[in-house]
Order: sequence, then C-alpha cells, then structure tokens
Amino acid sequence: MYLLYTIIACLVSFLVLKWLKKRKHCTDTKRLDGKTVLITGGDSGVGKETAVALARRGAHVIIACRNVEKAEKAVREIKFRSHSLNVLQMEVDLANLRSVREFCKKFLHIEKRLDILINNAGMPGVLDWTDDGFSVCFGVNHLGHFLLTNLLLHRLKECAPSRVVTLTCSIYKYQKLDFQDLNYNLLPFFTYCRSKLANIYFSQELAHITEGKGVTSYVVHPGFVQSGWTCHFSFLFRLLVGVIMRMFFVSCEMGAQTVVYCAVSDEAAKHNGGYFVDCRPATLRPFARDPGVAKKLWEASERLVKLS
Ligand SMILES: NC(=O)c1ccc[n+]([C@@H]2O[C@H](COP(=O)([O-])OP(=O)(O)OC[C@H]3O[C@@H](n4cnc5c(N)ncnc54)[C@H](OP(=O)(O)O)[C@@H]3O)[C@@H](O)[C@H]2O)c1
Repeated sequence: MYLLYTIIACLVSFLVLKWLKKRKHCTDTKRLDGKTVLITGGDSGVGKETAVALARRGAHVIIACRNVEKAEKAVREIKFRSHSLNVLQMEVDLANLRSVREFCKKFLHIEKRLDILINNAGMPGVLDWTDDGFSVCFGVNHLGHFLLTNLLLHRLKECAPSRVVTLTCSIYKYQKLDFQDLNYNLLPFFTYCRSKLANIYFSQELAHITEGKGVTSYVVHPGFVQSGWTCHFSFLFRLLVGVIMRMFFVSCEMGAQTVVYCAVSDEAAKHNGGYFVDCRPATLRPFARDPGVAKKLWEASERLVKLS
C-alpha cells in the first residue's frame, strides 16, 4: 500500500512540476535575413539561446561579451547549432563605461546596420563595484546598457523600424528606487531587484522618447532560468540553488522564447514600452509604470554616465 502511495505522490509531484515549468514557445516564424542583431552577454544562458534562435532566422548576429575566449567558443557553438556563419563576437565590459564607449565607436565603424538590440547581459546580486565606482548591479545591468543604447540610438533610428529588447526580472516588485542612493549596495537580493526595476523604467522611457521615430522598446522577464548566473556564488550556494533550479527553473532555450518573440513578432510591436512574460504582454505593479520616475531615472543616468 505504501508503495502505491509513494508512486502516486511521485506522479502527482512530477505533473505539478511539469505544469509549473510549462512555457509558451515563440510561434512567429518571421525571417531576419539582412537584419543585424546585437546581443549583450550572448556567450551564455538566455543570451546564447537568443543568438542561436535569431541566427537560425538568417540575422547577422553579434554577441558583445567581456570574455573573448568564452565568446569565441560561444560563436563556434552558435554557428554550429544555427547552421549560420553570420555570427561574430565583439568585446565589451559593461562594468567599465570607457569600454562601452570604445565598443560603440568600433561597432558603428564596422557595422552599418542595427535592427535589433538585445540588452541581455546581467549580474545577479553581487556586492561589488564597477571600474567607475557604481554598484555592480546598477552599473552593469542598468548604466552600462543605458550608455550603450544611447550611443547606438542614432544607428537604430537610421535602420527603423528597429527594436530594443531589455531583460528584467519579475522580482523587480520587491524594491523601489531610492534617488538619494541609486548606488545602493547593501543587500545582494535588493541590489539586483533595484537594477531590474531600473531596466523597466529605462525601457519605458526609451519607448517614450523614440515615439514616432521608428524605434520601439520592450522589457522581458524570461522566467526563472537554469543559466550560469550561480557561477558568481559559493559552491554551497550553487549546490543548494542547483537542486531548486533543476526542479523549478526552465531551460535557457525556453527562457529565450519571450526575448525572441519581442524581437520579431508583429503582435509584440503593438505594445511599445510594454512588459512581456511568457510570449505575451503582462501587467506591471503600478509603481513600476510611473512615467515621472522613468524620466527622473533617465535624467539621473545621463548625468551619471556623463552623456551630454
Ligand atoms: N536566470 C534567471 O532565472 C533570470 C530570471 C530573470 C531575469 N534574468 C535576466 O536574464 C538576463 C540573462 O541572464 P542569464 O540567466 O542568461 O545569466 P548568465 O548565464 O549569467 O548570463 C549573463 C551574461 O551577462 C554577461 N555579463 C555579466 N557581466 C558583464 C559585463 N560586465 N560586461 C559584459 N557582459 C557581462 C555574462 O558574461 P560572463 O560569462 O563573462 O560573466 C553572461 O554572458 C540577465 O539580464 C538576467 O538578469 C535571468
């Protein structure tokens, strides 16, 4: 009898877990021949899977990464899996604003098109500082991408209709921005939440300022994904979280689906400035939809990165 109960309990748990991990695939089959896509942090996790998916559709894909050796290896894998030779890597360290400026200069010199920019790279809650003295989460996740997007905006406008897709996380809702302390670096989880909230405001304000100029902006929560982010933590943490990830988190390929959806779909294009989860528009908490805060963050970020 006990054996029967155990088997039933296992079966039910298996089905519940399967249901919890159920996610939508991007069903839009649009090709991207002749289009250029730039993906930050495309050498692992969600970024790499996005690169494979978009290269398969015929896009010229550039992954912008900080570790050249790892990026070269990823390029070989992306080419192999997508059956496309149209993939390359370029070096950028989003934790260093000079590196971002140099990268953009080089990119604009080499690449004549930019149709889709995917602001994917991200650091989890790590209490460290960037080369410019910002907290790592705020500096890499928000400021690095803020500067990069602004420096490439002209090219995006030239190639209109073009899109910017920025990665956030649904845990944005556990924090609010403190404009007296944007560089907050006290509790790792909260630092990450704030940087992901900043990604949301950034995407909304970008949609606002580029309205009518052919550039649209979307922000995506990819789901909770079994990616490489735990590599920044201790072995014990990795072991513990590894078990939870295996049970509840989705694969990187599934995590990339909503990113790909926002990059290609005509349906998504109807929701400029929107927040997307599981290949459809989702609702943000009211405080995360405040255009006044989005504008204030944009202006503060311009000052911080010295964008004149
Ligand atoms: N995994 C999840 O459950 C989850 C949930 C919600 C949102 N997200 C978001 O999804 C995005 C992708 O994350 P992921 O899960 O795929 O994590 P991941 O596997 O750790 O990938 C993150 C990428 O960002 C790059 N990166 C980090 N710091 C950088 C820097 N200073 N300059 C340039 N590149 C840098 C990493 O490069 P290195 O390999 O050199 O470190 C890596 O390629 C992130 O924005 C994350 O916040 C993830």
